[in-house]
Amino acid sequence: MPRMRVSLKILLVVLLVAVVPVAVSGITSVVLARRAVAAAASDKLEAEARHLAEVAETTIIGGLEDLRQAATLGLHTLSNDEVSGALWVIYRGDVARAAVALIDGETGEAVVDPVFQETVSAEAGLAGHEPFPAAAVDAFAQHVPLADALATGRAVSVPYADAARGTPLIALAVRVPGRKDAAGKERPWVVAVEVSLRGLNQRFEEAADERFSAALVDLEGRAVCHTSRATALARAPVGTEGAARLADPRAPSSGAIDGGPDAAALVAYARASRLASPDGKTWGVVVERDRAEALADVQALSRRTTFWVGTALILALIAGTVLARGIARPVERLTAIVRRFAGGGQRGDLEVRAPNLGNDEIGELAGAFNKMADDIDGYTSQLRSFNEELQKKVDDRTRELKEAQGQLIQSQKMAAVGELGAGVAHEINNPLAGVLGSAQLALLRVDKGDARVRTHLQDIEKEALRIKDIVDSLLKLSQDQAGQAAGTVDLNQVVDGAVALLARPIIAQRISVKKELSSGLPKVRGKIADLQQAVMQLLTNAKDAMPEGGTLTVRTEAVDGRLVKIVVDDTGQGIPEAMKERIFEPFFTTRASKGNKGMGLAIVHRIVEEHGGRIAVDSTPGKGASFRLTFPATRETLHLV
Ligand SMILES: Nc1ncnc2c1ncn2[C@@H]1O[C@H](COP(=O)(O)OP(=O)(O)OP(=O)(O)O)[C@@H](O)[C@H]1O
Ligand SMILES: [Mg+2]
Repeated sequence: MPRMRVSLKILLVVLLVAVVPVAVSGITSVVLARRAVAAAASDKLEAEARHLAEVAETTIIGGLEDLRQAATLGLHTLSNDEVSGALWVIYRGDVARAAVALIDGETGEAVVDPVFQETVSAEAGLAGHEPFPAAAVDAFAQHVPLADALATGRAVSVPYADAARGTPLIALAVRVPGRKDAAGKERPWVVAVEVSLRGLNQRFEEAADERFSAALVDLEGRAVCHTSRATALARAPVGTEGAARLADPRAPSSGAIDGGPDAAALVAYARASRLASPDGKTWGVVVERDRAEALADVQALSRRTTFWVGTALILALIAGTVLARGIARPVERLTAIVRRFAGGGQRGDLEVRAPNLGNDEIGELAGAFNKMADDIDGYTSQLRSFNEELQKKVDDRTRELKEAQGQLIQSQKMAAVGELGAGVAHEINNPLAGVLGSAQLALLRVDKGDARVRTHLQDIEKEALRIKDIVDSLLKLSQDQAGQAAGTVDLNQVVDGAVALLARPIIAQRISVKKELSSGLPKVRGKIADLQQAVMQLLTNAKDAMPEGGTLTVRTEAVDGRLVKIVVDDTGQGIPEAMKERIFEPFFTTRASKGNKGMGLAIVHRIVEEHGGRIAVDSTPGKGASFRLTFPATRETLHLV
């Protein structure tokens, strides 16, 4: 499933909760209302159709009833003048009657002149009637349903229109007893009335005020009366569907047809059952109403519902967006910060922290993250400093190890050289003593005048003494020297003695001496004379390194309470790095021209070794050198520190 952002989820939920119920209830109520309103409109329309059908029946059948009454008058018993009078009585009975005639059933001839008004009189009983032109008598005679009336007693003609008058007309006929003929046989008469349907048509025209159209449909399916007078007597001008139902004898006597949302109109029909033909056909009324107009209120409701659903949607969108931002923004910010912190494959930024994101759960989360980040940062820097410390320790130890290794090599070298030197010295010592003794003895005995021999002997003595000097210093290198016994030595005292012995030549060379002696210095076990000699060698070297003068510093100090250190610093020429390796070797000197033998540091090395100590040198060429002698403190003096 693709990843969906939190903000989108929130928005969807808000839309779902806010809009869906509104939309569902709105649409449902619109649908239900539409159904109810359509049903109510259909019912009303059907009632209207039934009412109009009844009116049509009453108007037409009512006329027939009147004529049957006329039959009871006994027209055949009256004189022609009286019959005419009776016809006028029938004529006056209803303003819808345009003409009344009495026809001989056998001949089809008029018994008396038909009764009508060519121009309507204003006299009471005559006013309001349809004018009847004399020329219309033929049309009237043609339409009288004479045969039907003779057969069934009464009949209604098909509707017809007179071009001159433009009114829908209908002829009613009723059989009445006529006068007997010469043979004494009764000849039936027929009273015929032309009825104008103008009044009935008016009732249909009024339907327009009720916002529907209506038509009275005859047996042939023609509209006899119609809302719009112009369409009267046209064929099925309204409600085709309704007319079809009327024509179908199996259809119920009335009904409504709603063709649904696609239909333009609501249609209803009703049979005028009393206006029926013998074969079961009936007259009827079809009414029709514009469906959209009938459902206008529902349409308005639908528009209003759409408007409010739309409004709800917009409001939900706004509210959802605001809510989503309110929640998702801080989450996104926090996510970005956590991602920066984690680094995603690379080293993360451990300094990054979340800003204040409020008091809610997200704010709490940010706070918790910050605390965790602080902890991680703390652990990391702790780890780093542990690392650094460890590295330093490793470096220190490595250096110490290297120094120790160097010293060991040096010591072995020195031991070998010392042994060799001492062996040579022993071998030379006796013959040398002989040479020197003989030379000195010869000097005592040589004649004072013999200056040349004397000079030669003096040279021999001098060189022999020089060799003795070398032999002595070689002997000093050998470790198995007997002599002085070891004791507890105060190194401050050693330094004082050495400085005092050399004070004169040092001062002569304009060198200032600084003594920085630590008080309460632990004692060292050793031979004081040897130790003093070692310090003197270092002081001598320092002096030699500063022919132009400088500062000589001698320092003593305790290290960790276990070690005692003597440091001799000078501000002389210093020792080149490459030479540091070699300066402790016997006979290594850069001052051979000054008569130096190169034995000083070799002897110092031997003395330090003998005391279980160490010697180290630091130097910056051109700035000076620093020699450090370190000795173990005696156990008895350890507690002093
Ligand atoms: N403090 C110093 N400053 C500069 N160079 C020094 C120092 N001490 C020793 N040296 C160098 O180390 C060399 C060896 O010193 P060492 O004391 O063994 O011999 P020397 O002084 O030359 O001769 P000797 O001590 O036998 O008279 C010196 O020749 C000198 O080059
Ligand atoms: Mg020296």
